[in-house]
Amino acid sequence: MDYKIIKAINGEKLDSPPIWIMRQAGRYLPEYREIRKKYNFTEMYKNPEIACEVTLQPIRRFGFDASILFSDILVIPEAMGMDLEFIEGKGPVFKNPLLNTQDGLKLLREINPNEELEYVMQAIELIRENLPAETALIGFSGAPFTLATYMLEGGSSKNFAKIKEFMYSYPQAFHGLMDKLTVAVIAYLNAQIDSGINLFQVFDTWAGILTSQDYKEYVLPYTKKIFKSVNKVPGIHYANHSYALLETFTEINPDVYGVDWHLDLSLALEKLAVRTAYSVQRTANEKLQDGLSQDVVIQGNLDPTVLFASEEIIKDRVLKIIEQGKMAKGHIFNLGHGILPNTDPDKVKYLIDIIRDN
Ligand code: CP3
Repeated sequence: MDYKIIKAINGEKLDSPPIWIMRQAGRYLPEYREIRKKYNFTEMYKNPEIACEVTLQPIRRFGFDASILFSDILVIPEAMGMDLEFIEGKGPVFKNPLLNTQDGLKLLREINPNEELEYVMQAIELIRENLPAETALIGFSGAPFTLATYMLEGGSSKNFAKIKEFMYSYPQAFHGLMDKLTVAVIAYLNAQIDSGINLFQVFDTWAGILTSQDYKEYVLPYTKKIFKSVNKVPGIHYANHSYALLETFTEINPDVYGVDWHLDLSLALEKLAVRTAYSVQRTANEKLQDGLSQDVVIQGNLDPTVLFASEEIIKDRVLKIIEQGKMAKGHIFNLGHGILPNTDPDKVKYLIDIIRDN
């Protein structure tokens, strides 16, 4: 089966870009909130039938070109033995965050995804069986660095001082943690592939809190290893606030570059296409005309809050993104970060209509 999203990744010319949106199964959908009244988030993602039902909800309602497994990135640290809880109105919390020492690491188990995360594999099998034949299934994992931030900070963070202090003060322990997480992420993604996903996304949401020097030293080798080792289906790399790091991401060489909403796709393409001394001296437009971006596939990147604007504004912003996406080898339409819980589902319907009618 040739899914539209895979065709875009292969650079086939399409009438309109394939579309899916991050967090497409979630609280903005009344049918999600209905189920959520009966179960908490943890109960939902640990139950393959519920995970399947919730994954399918946005496909039934909108007919997205791809579905994404309903789960969370933090299931890996949980499977390694950490005590995870999602608290209403607050988000994820680890009750015993890792300490800044090598001792903390010893407590983390090596995972066998087919055991501790068997419920994810069962959900994938069930979803693939129930999805329309033309809808691709996207699996995912958190990237080691983003997982490590939650494991050290104990939850969401404002300034990420704990993870950075750990990184600078105990580099050996930090690298030990990144190593362990990399092994887990590779095993997890490969198990997802064996269970039936058609492509995957790696969320390195917090990579953008690092300077490019630190990113290169502490994070890049691990993400690079993941994309090298998980190669049986295409992979998307996503990081938020990543403008300063985009050129560095070319070393990861993912099949698709997820672009956050802070920058124009044309600028992202310019950054991604800068590979030669010759191209450095040219303007973005000259480079694009020279076809230097023609080997780059991008995903993105509507600002999620644009869905709170009028249809006129939505249309304007969406058409600009589509025009810029045409400069790439392939473009997958998405938001630049997850959809916000109070978004009106009718605006999502409108978004899809303009993309497909365009
Ligand atoms: O995209 C999808 O629809 C697939 C499912 C998915 C969820 N989380 C469901 C979820 C995916 C891919 C994630 C990724 C994730 N989880 C990230 C990386 C991407 C990003 O958004 O930056 C991060 C950092 C997390 C950790 C996490 N999970 C946070 C910070 C929160 C709380 C914030 C929030 O939106 O409530 C969650 C909870 C979460 N993950 C919900 C969902 C649907 C809300 C659950 C609920 O209360 O019903």
